[in-house]
Amino acid sequence: MGFDIQNVRGNFPILRRKVYEKQLVYLDNAATTQKPDMVIDRLNNFYSYENSNVHRGIHHLSQEATACFEEARDYVQKFLNAHSRNEIIFTRGTTESINLVAQSFGRKFINPGDEVLISQMEHHSNIVPWQMICEERGARLLVVPITESAELNMKAFEKMLSDKTRIVAITHVSNTLGTINPVDIIVKLAHRVGARVLIDGAQAIAHLPIDLQNLDCDFYCFSGHKVYGPTGIGVLYGKVELLEEMLPYQCGGEMISEVTFEKTTFNELPYKFEAGTPNIAGALGLHSALLYLDRLGIRQAAAHEDEVFKYALDKLGQIDQIIIYSRAQHKTTSLSFNLKGVHPYDVGSIIDKFAVAVRTGHLCTQPLTRIFQVPGFVRASFAVYNTTEEVDIFINAVIQAKSMLMS
Ligand code: ALA
Repeated sequence: MGFDIQNVRGNFPILRRKVYEKQLVYLDNAATTQKPDMVIDRLNNFYSYENSNVHRGIHHLSQEATACFEEARDYVQKFLNAHSRNEIIFTRGTTESINLVAQSFGRKFINPGDEVLISQMEHHSNIVPWQMICEERGARLLVVPITESAELNMKAFEKMLSDKTRIVAITHVSNTLGTINPVDIIVKLAHRVGARVLIDGAQAIAHLPIDLQNLDCDFYCFSGHKVYGPTGIGVLYGKVELLEEMLPYQCGGEMISEVTFEKTTFNELPYKFEAGTPNIAGALGLHSALLYLDRLGIRQAAAHEDEVFKYALDKLGQIDQIIIYSRAQHKTTSLSFNLKGVHPYDVGSIIDKFAVAVRTGHLCTQPLTRIFQVPGFVRASFAVYNTTEEVDIFINAVIQAKSMLMS
């Protein structure tokens, strides 16, 4: 499959939809991406002809479903270039993956007086779980500041690292600012002081090639629905030696080896962390989504997205009275802005009437609204199927919003 934008768009049925009798322009991809036929058909096929539980049945359908489910795990391992399939845990999404690590790693390894490092640009799901475990364990949560240009302050980060740092939890790409953090350097610096590193890959997974053996982080999390897959399925990658030492996050079927009323022994990896019936169809759909992206070529897809993103940045920057928050030198696909002094909801509501879907509000990053002293942001975020023609429609909608709200 070569990269042909019209072909790509044809793979996504929802893009043929009209909203308010206008052609839909979907620019809310950081919230969730649309799904290609390949993913929709996979889900449909599973429920139509293959539905059965996994790891539980001797019958044919169950064995078939188990094989497909485990093939999905193998594909995720390959996609991330993880060392072992036992390092790939299926979860509900990034949020559950981070909560799993905060609770299971935290209870085992975080002690009173220890420190956990996050940054000012984290999504709430990479803030609150750490706040809670720090409170429970008597540890301190330290927050690395960002610079004027919306980048991580690496000097401050280095200074804040110490032998008290147990774990650094940092986003790979900011959902609000689009900033790409230098995670390779962060991992090296953190490992030097003996700290572990969790990377929130929710916004990176669809746009950046990931090589976990090379990156050497300890945990990496992502959600299927941000990479053209279904909702309710995600991945936690963790290094085997850490996962082996951590206790299960949830308890129930599948995660056990033997249960008596006196004592339970746990299943081997990765099943120790997959209590209950998993999202089988979700895993199969995620497999198809990653296959789809692999066939397109993630580098080609990213090159196209970058072109559309730069075009949008340039056009938006030409509008007077616009404040752009996506200012980092290295950034990708999330373009947050405001019209000076205008509430983002007002801008978003007018843009919506042009059938352009953008997100408005705090974007699950309330601390960033305080730093920039705004009630929220308007965010356009791009995916592989967006075009410069769609950017023109979006820009026209912003100009119309401006003339209605600022004249
Ligand atoms: N984290 C998602 C967003 O940024 C929901 O919109």
